[in-house]
Amino acid sequence: MCGISAYIGKENNAAEIVFNMLSRLEYRGYDSAGVAYVKEGNDKISVVKDIGMVENVREQYISEHSDLCIGHTRWATHGEPSKINAHPHLDCKQELAIVHNGIIENYLALKKMLEDEGHKFVSATDSEVIAHLIEKFYNKDDVLTLEDAVRQAIALLRGSYGIAVISSKEEKIVAARLGSPIIVGIGKDKDEYFVSSDTNALLPYTNSTIPLNDGEIAILTKNDCRITNKDAIPVQKKIEKILYDLQSAEKDGYAHYMLKEIFEQPRVINETMRGRLKVEEGLAKLGGVRMKDEEIRNISRIIFIACGTSLHAGMLGKYLMEEIARIPTEVEYASEFKYKFPVLDKNTLVIAISQSGETADTIASLREARERGANTLGIVNVVGSTIAREAKKGVYIYAGPEIGVASTKAFTAQITALYLLSLYFGRIRNTISGFALREIVEEFARIPEKVQKILDNANVIKDVADKFYNYRDFLYLGRGYNFPIVLEGALKLKEISYIHAEGYPAGEMKHGPIAMIDENFPTMVILVKDNVYNKLMNNVEEIKARHGRIVAITTEGDGDVKKILKEHDEVIYIPKTLPIFYPFLTVVPLQLFAYFCALKLGRNVDKPRNLAKSVTVE
Ligand code: F6R
Repeated sequence: MCGISAYIGKENNAAEIVFNMLSRLEYRGYDSAGVAYVKEGNDKISVVKDIGMVENVREQYISEHSDLCIGHTRWATHGEPSKINAHPHLDCKQELAIVHNGIIENYLALKKMLEDEGHKFVSATDSEVIAHLIEKFYNKDDVLTLEDAVRQAIALLRGSYGIAVISSKEEKIVAARLGSPIIVGIGKDKDEYFVSSDTNALLPYTNSTIPLNDGEIAILTKNDCRITNKDAIPVQKKIEKILYDLQSAEKDGYAHYMLKEIFEQPRVINETMRGRLKVEEGLAKLGGVRMKDEEIRNISRIIFIACGTSLHAGMLGKYLMEEIARIPTEVEYASEFKYKFPVLDKNTLVIAISQSGETADTIASLREARERGANTLGIVNVVGSTIAREAKKGVYIYAGPEIGVASTKAFTAQITALYLLSLYFGRIRNTISGFALREIVEEFARIPEKVQKILDNANVIKDVADKFYNYRDFLYLGRGYNFPIVLEGALKLKEISYIHAEGYPAGEMKHGPIAMIDENFPTMVILVKDNVYNKLMNNVEEIKARHGRIVAITTEGDGDVKKILKEHDEVIYIPKTLPIFYPFLTVVPLQLFAYFCALKLGRNVDKPRNLAKSVTVE
């Protein structure tokens, strides 16, 4: 995690530009922040850094002229959040400064070696070794340049890094990556250059970018940008345009990014469907998949790999792939998959799902899958991200920038892509009749307006949250297609309100969790008209018999649920749809419920404690 940014160019307020970029990267971590720059007419490095958020640190910065700066916002891994552990880190002579995103796995051995050579360390971080390693090689016999020294230093690093480095002796920034993203931004007139962990921070300044690949190094001066590989051989790179604009990355008058992103979902579903759901023809098509029909028919197994919310999308994908396309499907935590010696072959399709495209566990598993000969596909939001580039095939979800740390619109866009993919595979494999397909496609096209209807009644959900936000624990029950949704709903509640919530397949309740039920342990239950409706009604009866409070999400016009509920229970009504599509309509009230509980509890909704949006460490 962590976010890094840097600027070199014609402007003489480099630190301010870097602070601006850092505040757009803060979702990646907000334990501490800092900048390092070289003052005009000075040959010393100045550093401003402290514990806390970017804005707190910015208040300590007194404006100075500088055209060169690097900055960092931290999610602590090695060493507690503190001023001393905040980046940038300096070498012994205080002539060079580094910022780092990633983990240096062999830092203890390197630190020992450097300490034996006389280097003095001040922090408890792994990152500080990078500064001292570069120092070790820099200006040795006055021969090596900063870029040579960086090259020699990173050859000794094990683990992952995205780094930016400056020296008080050279007017340049050297950036390098292995496993953690680095995007170079190019100023309009090629007289200024930026470095960032993502494109979102570059948006106010430029939409021309060069994403670095692993092993590449960028050397930026005021009017030049060179990219080389690790052996100093120049690499020709294409300039890539950012596909969204600044406005779509702003709050648009909403109190929080998360709320804005929840409300964007009808539009996002439409975007993901656009050009892919052919209502007239009654079918779905996905260009990016680039698989011949024969290849699709030969798929013997699908494995979804993902983390967190994206994993829940994959769990829903399993239900869809098995019912619609009749392909045996598994879902694996990306953090487990790589280390369990997976059995794979060329007919196994491994699908990595990731909003950021930079989640280290998912990247590691994707690489493992490729090495073991599987076919791979990425379902990704961030264009040009590592997973998007490394998967053999890909489907972009077009959710636009997701800034709130808790994922919402990316989830609905991911599941939209999964419905499309299952329908596409089902048609090619002849596992779904044309008649059924047409009915499904037509209803699919109506989903955005049904989601909108729920959003129009968000106040009802706020009222429910106002009555329930004080509980310490929750049980979330659902079955079938709504089982992954209760896992997702419970995750949302935990993440942003810090209320403990457990998602469970409702049928399992009687095998254990029922023991917890009493008047202090409420249950959120998804009770829609599908083939397990009656079974869930039984669950509700069982909970009521034990004095548990209920919030039921059920379909409009269902009078039966109300009959078995008591005065302290609540019902949230959603529009009717085909059973297969309820996840779109049941997840939204759960997102809103979590949001309103967190709001009532005064939590930092967009930046919940201890979390970071993009988890770039394994
Ligand atoms: C939950 C959340 C995380 C992410 C997970 C994977 O709200 O945001 O659980 O879903 O870290 O991230 P991506 O999708 O970027 O790979």
